[in-house]
Amino acid sequence: MADTTLMDKLVSLCKRRGFVFQSSEIYGGLGSVWDYGPLGVELKKNVKDRWWYAMVRARDDIEGLDAAILMHPRVWEASGHIAGFTDPLVDCRHCKNRFRADDPRIKGTPGQPDAQCPVCGSRGTLTEPRMFNLMFKTFMGPVEDQAAVVYLRPETAQGIYVNYLNVLQSSRQRIPFGIAQIGKAFRNEITPGNFIFRTREFEQMEMQFFVKPGTDAEWFERWREWRMQWHQSLGLTTAKLQWHQHGPDELAHYARAAFDIQYEFPFGWQEIEGIHNRGDFDLGRHQEFSGKKLEHFDQAANERYLPYIVETSAGADRVALTLLADAYREEQVEGETRVVLGLHPAVAPIKAGVFPLVKKDGMPELATALYHDLKRRFPAFYDDSGAIGRRYRRMDEAGTPFGITVDGETAAQRTVTVRHRDSMQQERVGVDHVAGFVAERIGRD
Ligand code: GAP
Repeated sequence: MADTTLMDKLVSLCKRRGFVFQSSEIYGGLGSVWDYGPLGVELKKNVKDRWWYAMVRARDDIEGLDAAILMHPRVWEASGHIAGFTDPLVDCRHCKNRFRADDPRIKGTPGQPDAQCPVCGSRGTLTEPRMFNLMFKTFMGPVEDQAAVVYLRPETAQGIYVNYLNVLQSSRQRIPFGIAQIGKAFRNEITPGNFIFRTREFEQMEMQFFVKPGTDAEWFERWREWRMQWHQSLGLTTAKLQWHQHGPDELAHYARAAFDIQYEFPFGWQEIEGIHNRGDFDLGRHQEFSGKKLEHFDQAANERYLPYIVETSAGADRVALTLLADAYREEQVEGETRVVLGLHPAVAPIKAGVFPLVKKDGMPELATALYHDLKRRFPAFYDDSGAIGRRYRRMDEAGTPFGITVDGETAAQRTVTVRHRDSMQQERVGVDHVAGFVAERIGRD
């Protein structure tokens, strides 16, 4: 059963605490486009940094890339997106709403007199399905004509394929090797929704691993394992992660095999990352459409071949939503509801809140100095307003793992209390050791 209440609570917390806002809210919002506020941008950045670290920095066989969003329009012919990146849509002639033809709420067959519109309930008003391309179009240069059409990329992967030889040659890598990229992608989704789960503008974290044909199945299995481990390392509930294998009718046009990593959201099990064995489809098509040879010459084996590609493709926004949904909990504490985001310290947007117990006796001065010291090393937040319990609660909602309070003993003993978000236990730590204490606990793993 979908838990819509939990999603509503999450959306409201995200706005209240500055994680995510509706785009152009003062104009009534823009459908399925969202902005990340001060805490959201840190959370998503932490996700991307961890991905980049695991994929590029910690390995010798993967290089980074940042390709442009706009690409030559022929790229999208070669990739199959112009012909195949489409959804069948139907319109209701009565209420003017538009639906995917396979929308489960539609009763009957669209285009037939018995078909019923799921919104206004009219019968016989749904059109025959028509194919609708999900790519956003725009124009390059001053003339808005067909010749000037370019697309906002619907995936980052193509920027990697067209640069594969540039990267291979300039980095002096050898196959097997990979190229990783994080960047925006755009899809004019017909049924977007569930907050930042499916949006029209989003960020992908994609890696394409180029291998010798025949070794692809083995690399595919390795990558499956490594990617699942990465999601687990974010502190997600293991029982809420599962594999979904694509059956023959689900496989994308380019894929020889595909598995999704799914998470059990309040609205059901859904994909957060896809791992695909793309064979030589992409390089073969770009070779054909560009007329440029993209084969690799393997000197050791004295062989020439078009590498196969194993792709790992995750959405940064989806991973951020997964973390938020997994972390949200409500507890009863002394007759009050405590809302906590139990985020893994490594991804929490703020690592420590710093509080003077009262606004006198030199405590604000000591707390401010400590705050500035901590802020140089990691995101910290200073709060001196309201009762200390309220300040802790605000930090609990923001997912801040440590609350540091300067109190009456601080000046004389050079110690502060450190309160742990999850257990609410407190311990005394030397002022000079607080930065190290927190830093040690927000490490990478
Ligand atoms: N290059 C392969 C590719 O793009 P995909 O399954 O269409 O594959 C990969 O997308 C990932 O990108 C998904 O698992 C999801 O995390 C993210 N994603 C795709 N469409 C999205 C959307 N409309 N909003 C947010 N994230 C999206």
